[in-house]
Amino acid sequence: MQTLISTADLQARIADLRSELAKNKYDYAVCVLNGAYQFFSMLTMTMDVNIDFVKVKSYVDTKSTGNLQILLADFDKFNGKTVLLVDDICDSGLTLSSLRNKIISAGATSVDTCVLLNKPNAHNKTFEPNYHAFNIGNEFVIGFGLDYNEKYRTLPYIAVL
Ligand code: IMP
Ligand code: MG
Repeated sequence: MQTLISTADLQARIADLRSELAKNKYDYAVCVLNGAYQFFSMLTMTMDVNIDFVKVKSYVDTKSTGNLQILLADFDKFNGKTVLLVDDICDSGLTLSSLRNKIISAGATSVDTCVLLNKPNAHNKTFEPNYHAFNIGNEFVIGFGLDYNEKYRTLPYIAVL
């Protein structure tokens, strides 16, 4: 297992991103579980914002099933609100674009998307997030919330599997 982004680099870049986001005012920051939990808590620390959670599943092993299951969500509360949707990684963009559409359909006035990691050259890329901490290649990564079949989420750094 090879370290791709160290704990110190994660902390420094996430602090910068928090400052960048401070120019916007969001009613809600929404964490996409499970993968975004570490990034979300570090990003929103000290932010003046309400927080909420949605839980989805689309991956088995290192492949997207192409079918997003929503396991937990209360979209109605976003009616009339400005939302920052936060995920661990944007690969194809299916997860973020589907969730963003659902939150818009629920009546949100705006939805910005923010990820820790973006794969700009991903296969079948359909969506670009508004904010990202790091661009990476097409390798499958783990740690800092990201899993391989539910393992490695508690690692404090990002590694290539
Ligand atoms: P997308 O819907 O194709 O953009 O994929 C996004 C979701 O797939 C993320 O929320 C992750 O849960 C998962 N995912 C994509 N790439 C990786 C990876 O390299 N490591 C771990 N999970 C990944
Ligand atoms: Mg995820």
